[in-house]
Amino acid sequence: MASSALILMVHLVVFITCGATHDNKPEQIHIAFTGIASERNVNYVTPSPDENPETVVMYGTRSDKLEKKAVGDSFVFNGPGHRFRIHNVKLTGLAPNTLYYYQVGVPDNGTSEVMSFSSKEGNLVFAVYGDMGYTNAVSLNRLITEVKGSGYDAVLHVGDMAYNMYEDDGETGDEFMNAIQPIATKVPYMVLPGNHEYKDNFTHYRNRFSNMELGVGQTSGSETSLWWSMDIGLIHFVGFDTEVYFYYSNKGQIQRQLNWLEADLIKANQQREKTPWIVSLAHKAWFMEKTDFSAFGPLLHKYGVDLHLCGHAHNYQRLYPTYDGRVDDNHTDKNVYVNPVYLTTIVAGSAGSKEKLSDGKAPHRALAEYIEEYGYGHLQAINRTHLYWSWENTHDNVRTVFQDYLWIIQENHGMRMFPEEPPAPVATDATEEIQVVEV
Ligand SMILES: [Fe+2]
Repeated sequence: MASSALILMVHLVVFITCGATHDNKPEQIHIAFTGIASERNVNYVTPSPDENPETVVMYGTRSDKLEKKAVGDSFVFNGPGHRFRIHNVKLTGLAPNTLYYYQVGVPDNGTSEVMSFSSKEGNLVFAVYGDMGYTNAVSLNRLITEVKGSGYDAVLHVGDMAYNMYEDDGETGDEFMNAIQPIATKVPYMVLPGNHEYKDNFTHYRNRFSNMELGVGQTSGSETSLWWSMDIGLIHFVGFDTEVYFYYSNKGQIQRQLNWLEADLIKANQQREKTPWIVSLAHKAWFMEKTDFSAFGPLLHKYGVDLHLCGHAHNYQRLYPTYDGRVDDNHTDKNVYVNPVYLTTIVAGSAGSKEKLSDGKAPHRALAEYIEEYGYGHLQAINRTHLYWSWENTHDNVRTVFQDYLWIIQENHGMRMFPEEPPAPVATDATEEIQVVEV
């Protein structure tokens, strides 16, 4: 009997010891582009802030032989909410178009399973959406299924995530980051801040996505995760922070971003031979509330940005090329914009959240398509003159119903002149809703 009790006690000690180690194994793993084609940033969390396991990614081109080791750094995220340790590792010198297997963590603290990503280059397919939470994440299952089938090569999540990362002492953020892990460990998960990230000066966003600052933030000279740019294939992406005006109204911060944005767009125009397309990303569009496009709008117009992708309104909207009250809707096929003279805007803000759908929309005359359904979009530059966009419904997570598409054909990439005539109001009906309800 005494011997049985002793054996039980030994088993208990072993179980508790192993359990404690296992409880600190890496989670919330996500990868990102760094702005350099041969690199990826890997970010993960170990739940215990006071243990300090080495930050390691083992990787290679064979799943049974991870022969390369990359070492990074970690820091403790002190809430608000619970504390945990965030790790960042940069993988460098990756061969193009190669499947890499990788595992994060160290054996004495716990390691992840062996995962994989592709260092694919060229004209990638991007899944694009905003406003996806942890609860009612309608598009999540479809996104996971599709990424397993290599249906897209990267994600652009243009703000509003988790709903909200700070809630429940940060547990909601943990749950969201683990929920997107099947996607974010396979393809780069690129993000921008939305209004739902505002709490405590965007601290959960800036820390949980510190790999954005350490990657594209540094290579684009912004030195922040709040705005950044990168070149992928034929596209120069420039992401900016529309929340800087209302949720963190700091004149210095506003001006720093505008200075950076204009410098970035000047540089992008100098290398238009290499990246003819310029696509801007942000949480909001010019007709939405609690932001200010009076400076953004003229910059995006002047420097010939082709397409602006955003969310915030929980629906789908495709606008005609529009600038300062003018609408370029003289296209034979409303799904094909040939040599548009203004910026095209698309709202893809209905990936799914506990806030459900909303009906805020752009002025009627500017709208080419409006769909009040859950879903997300795909973007791909086909060549120097043809950019393809599609948007699919993901309602009920049963099957995808193709909903909308757009070809932008542009043979005259470059800077634009400002119109000489005074602007005509886009809204033709005084009762027409021109602002979205804050969600
Ligand atoms: Fe929003």
